[in-house]
Amino acid sequence: MIICAIESSCDDTSIAFVKNGNKILSNITSSQIEKHADFFGVVPEIASREHLTTIDKVYSIALKEANISESAIDAIAVTSYPGLIGSLIIGVNFAKGLSFKINKPLISVNHLLGHIYSAFFDNDISFPLISLLISGGHTTIIKMNSLFDYQIIGKTLDDSCGEAFDKIAKFFELGYPGGPIIDKLAKYGNPKAYEFPLPLRNMKKYNLNFSFSGFKTAVMYHRKKYQNESFTNIDFNSEDSKFLQNMINHNKYLIKNKKLDEDENIFDIAASFQNQVAKILTLKVKESFNRNDIKNFIIAGGSSANTEIRSQLNNLAKQLNLNLYMPNLKLCMDNAAMIGGIAYHYALNNKFSKLDLAPYSRIKKLKRGSGI
Ligand code: KG4
Ligand code: ZN
Repeated sequence: MIICAIESSCDDTSIAFVKNGNKILSNITSSQIEKHADFFGVVPEIASREHLTTIDKVYSIALKEANISESAIDAIAVTSYPGLIGSLIIGVNFAKGLSFKINKPLISVNHLLGHIYSAFFDNDISFPLISLLISGGHTTIIKMNSLFDYQIIGKTLDDSCGEAFDKIAKFFELGYPGGPIIDKLAKYGNPKAYEFPLPLRNMKKYNLNFSFSGFKTAVMYHRKKYQNESFTNIDFNSEDSKFLQNMINHNKYLIKNKKLDEDENIFDIAASFQNQVAKILTLKVKESFNRNDIKNFIIAGGSSANTEIRSQLNNLAKQLNLNLYMPNLKLCMDNAAMIGGIAYHYALNNKFSKLDLAPYSRIKKLKRGSGI
């Protein structure tokens, strides 16, 4: 079964052709990063306009690369929730048009399940499992008995994990998206320079829920409170890369503009912040496994590409003897292949949609313990 999948929930226009849920024939993504970079975040109106102008082109390229004709398509899958409503509308309407044109059924896909499915491409994963989904829009711990029988057992009460990376990067004028830049900066910093708080770490009181907005405020405005005595003394001259030189100059700019104190550097801040994010995620995941007799573990979503998060969760998996599955780095970010992959299982379960399918921006029931 060949599925044409469409993903347009945020700022990537992506179309993929996937065979039998595991063979990616093509996966073409047009990123809008440059269009949003000046704003240090996604501007919804710009995002939907960009989807509209690029979606036809992305479809043609993906079809050509898959080396198939339209008549070979068995079904059309589309992310219909959650996401930016203006962006979802473009993808859903494109999918409906295609479904009508080639007279093939439509499959409405939950974006979050798509992210989780991205780990299935390279791995043989069995249920039950626990997945940690960390993206720009969500931070959720989901217990799954099958692809379609699941429960949210923890979630963020405010910002998402990726959003915290993005907002800190915005404050320090580092660029967008923040995650990859902070990840790179952290390589050169001291993760113990600051000991930022671990929000909601009391499991009895807060269970498996997260909060990232207090974290972000601590990093942006209250660093003095969490400073440790020694900062890294990096020999910046030893590395002559363009990135380091740019960041050293940027550091001087931040000091001049009073966003950093004289004795601070952005490398230490990045490393300390990232370390604490990884730590709180790891603590909550550990508790999830303590509360459930499960051995399979998936991490997915944009922030699952993070070096320190991967490393700390990997160590936890070793300690608890878990089978840890992570998507290939290329499939961590939004992409249509993950939508086409899981859509195959929607089709096997006869979960098709009608042409009156409507996108919606939120998960219907977002109460803890409810389905998604
Ligand atoms: O899954 P995704 O592509 O889109 C959403 O569904 O939101 O995730 C995007 C998010 C952004 O917030 C970005 O900063 C974050 O993933 N991200 C990272 C890294 N790479 C991307 N966060 C931390 N470390 C990274 N290396
Ligand atoms: Zn996503």
